[in-house]
Amino acid sequence: ATNRTFTMIKPDAVENGHIGAILEKITAAGFRIAAMKYTQLSRRDAEEFYAIHKERPFFGELVDFMTRGPIVAAILEKENAVEDFRALIGATNPAEAAEGTIRKLYATSIGENAVHGSDSDENAAIEGAFHFSGREIF
Ligand code: CMP
Repeated sequence: ATNRTFTMIKPDAVENGHIGAILEKITAAGFRIAAMKYTQLSRRDAEEFYAIHKERPFFGELVDFMTRGPIVAAILEKENAVEDFRALIGATNPAEAAEGTIRKLYATSIGENAVHGSDSDENAAIEGAFHFSGREIF
């Protein structure tokens, strides 16, 4: 069935000038953009968004990174969206990401890994609602 996932183009990829190339990969792979904005996370936003990682040793680094500059947030729609998007972006660590994946092409490190992709339909809904109101989703 057609469903949705949530993504962010992270500050590293924005700084490195990869917004256009990443959006091109996403639309060429058949995802429809249901919502999109250019924004910057506050520390409070990032701490809430990544609350699940609060006890991890890299949490502070993750919040510093995700708040240091603007991001592109988007809701994407496609058949099998969550799984297909995770395949398109590749492994969390770009060193382990498959050839041709967005992280292989554009990520810098395991922390600065260019893009986010929801890991389940449930989290896609939660993460999309965190960033967008009903009127911003088409
Ligand atoms: P993502 O899977 O989108 O969401 C959690 C993020 O935590 C992950 O991307 C990485 O950016 C970051 N992360 C995961 N593991 C590490 C790590 N070992 N060191 C630093 N950052 C990490």
